[in-house]
Amino acid sequence: MAVEPLISESQIRDRLAELGRQIEEDYRSRPLTIVAVLTGSLIALADLVRQIHIPHRIALVQASSYRGATTTSTTLVINDAFAPDVSGRDVLLLDDILDTGQTLANLVRHIQDRGAASVKTAVLLRKIGRQVVPIEPDYCGFVIPDVFVIGYGLDFDDDYRHLPYVGVLQQ
Ligand code: XMP
Repeated sequence: MAVEPLISESQIRDRLAELGRQIEEDYRSRPLTIVAVLTGSLIALADLVRQIHIPHRIALVQASSYRGATTTSTTLVINDAFAPDVSGRDVLLLDDILDTGQTLANLVRHIQDRGAASVKTAVLLRKIGRQVVPIEPDYCGFVIPDVFVIGYGLDFDDDYRHLPYVGVLQQ
């Protein structure tokens, strides 16, 4: 399948540097933990944290949605075994893309319940037109139209994550 580039490697690099500077200013002298959502945000995490020149911790969570066999509703199962000790910390949740908003909204509640001092959100991409949960990301890399994107951590059938840019899969 062909891939049409949407956001280039250099655009991503420049934008993450800007976000890194903002995050540095906002969290100076605060106990920051960046909690990245597996697997899609891994590449953004690696590049973003190297643009944040203040002390901070890194943690990971996995969020998988399952569609019920007899209903259309989905259940989000959260595995936070790799996010120990967020109580009293200022947490910045990092996800690859905000689509309907359900994943991030659920994760914010989950991290709050674990006793974080504050919880904010950062996304590389925000897709317009499909949001059902009213959540505003505190830091957003790029706003994109309602297309299925791959690359820079985002996958189709677990492939394409390694592409250094974000693209649209041409079916
Ligand atoms: P919600 O709807 O909960 O979804 O905001 C967020 C999760 O949905 C996945 N997602 C995508 N993955 N290309 C992808 O590779 C896309 O265009 C796309 N849209 C949504 C992604 O896992 C994200 O964390």
